[in-house]
Amino acid sequence: MDKTAKVVLDGQEYELPVVVGTEDEVGIDISKFRGTSGAITLDSGYANTGSCKSEICFIDGEKGILRYRGYPIEQLAEHAKFPEVAYLLINGELPTAAQYESFRQDLTYHSMIHEDMKKFFEGFRHTAHPMAILSAMVTSLSSYYPEVDDDADDHNIIRLLAKVKTVAAYAYKKSIGQPFVQPQNKLAYCANFLHMMFAVPTEPYEVDPVLEDALNVLLILHADHEQNCSTSTVRMVGSSQANLYASMSAGISALWGPLHGGANQKVIEMLNMIQQDGGGIDKYVAKAKDKSDPFRLFGFGHRVYKNFDPRATILRKSAESVLDRLGVHDPMLEIARQLEEVALKDEYFIERNLYPNVDFYSGIIYRAMGIPTDMFTVMFALGRLPGWIAHWKELRNDPSSRINRPRQIYTGAGERDYVGIADRG
Ligand code: CMC
Repeated sequence: MDKTAKVVLDGQEYELPVVVGTEDEVGIDISKFRGTSGAITLDSGYANTGSCKSEICFIDGEKGILRYRGYPIEQLAEHAKFPEVAYLLINGELPTAAQYESFRQDLTYHSMIHEDMKKFFEGFRHTAHPMAILSAMVTSLSSYYPEVDDDADDHNIIRLLAKVKTVAAYAYKKSIGQPFVQPQNKLAYCANFLHMMFAVPTEPYEVDPVLEDALNVLLILHADHEQNCSTSTVRMVGSSQANLYASMSAGISALWGPLHGGANQKVIEMLNMIQQDGGGIDKYVAKAKDKSDPFRLFGFGHRVYKNFDPRATILRKSAESVLDRLGVHDPMLEIARQLEEVALKDEYFIERNLYPNVDFYSGIIYRAMGIPTDMFTVMFALGRLPGWIAHWKELRNDPSSRINRPRQIYTGAGERDYVGIADRG
């Protein structure tokens, strides 16, 4: 027999259907509750609200489990290539060798940006944050590639995946006043991005395989994370049937905030501040615990993970190995290690289940790779793009999907009469 749940409101009992997921997660379906009871449910920050059913990503925050389409993140990070993971997320299965080859080729041959669009970059100040450029350029792509036929979504998904790395690298080149470097068809996805970032017209540039491997792992770890703030934003915007590019641009804007993808930039700024202040950890741990101080330990805490973030575990090891292989000694890594050690033993952090998250170590790796701090969140966006696309596509193909439209409990003024400006005192 199907499970149900009961709610008693004002003495009246309501029976509600229960939905059970693949991994036995339980959700009470309240979609018809208002119709029968007149009441809504209130859940500020959606901490306990399922907004959809989804087949893309599974997280068990208590056990520190993350899987894309059933595959453990640890296995994908160790063995897969980023385009393979992108294909998996978007299409549901890992590609065959032939499918992978054709996907890789598509991603290569659509990398160039329309010459006219390059002029858009000229309009930005050289000090513009690259996330502002990325978000604006992604939405602008819709004016070049409108949805004109039934296959438009598939074509646009390929174009978007292929071109975003070019836009991201050009945003960086713009910020340092260097000429844009064209993508090269012979290079794979990650190598092509690094080439466009770091090559200059006057010098030959060989992509360092250490950088390519490190980038591959970072992008895979960021590729999806179910209904996080930016993905929910993509679904929210997509639910109004806004086009792919507009929906992705909204996701980029949501990611930018320091509590979400912007945290990777904030971690490095925080470690820098600690270093410049003499390297004392305790003062900053105390500040983070002080409720009258707005300071937080960036890169710590997560809405879902209450034990450990499996991505952070992979990146902690990866940071050590990448710095080692590149021969980089970064005092930030030592400060990060000390901070982690002190915080993990502290009652405040233990009680609240606050552990390092994916952003705690990613910035240290990006620094070692030569990627500037204000590009870190762009790197996160590059990685998260396949996840956003997969969710947008899932929503688009779901015949039961409706426009997202939450309700509220109104707490403002009661009805009152308008008073003319002359009589307002
Ligand atoms: N430093 C100090 N205290 C913290 C921190 C932190 N980083 N994170 C949470 N807390 C405290 C918070 O003050 C609260 O304490 P109390 O119960 O006494 O009021 C308690 O822990 C619960 O925190 P919350 O803000 O209610 O938790 P949340 O689920 O709403 O927020 C979070 C999650 C990630 C926004 C938050 O932990 C945070 O601000 N972390 C720092 C920013 C960060 O690293 N963000 C990256 C997240 S991972 C990448 C991604 O997917 O976006």
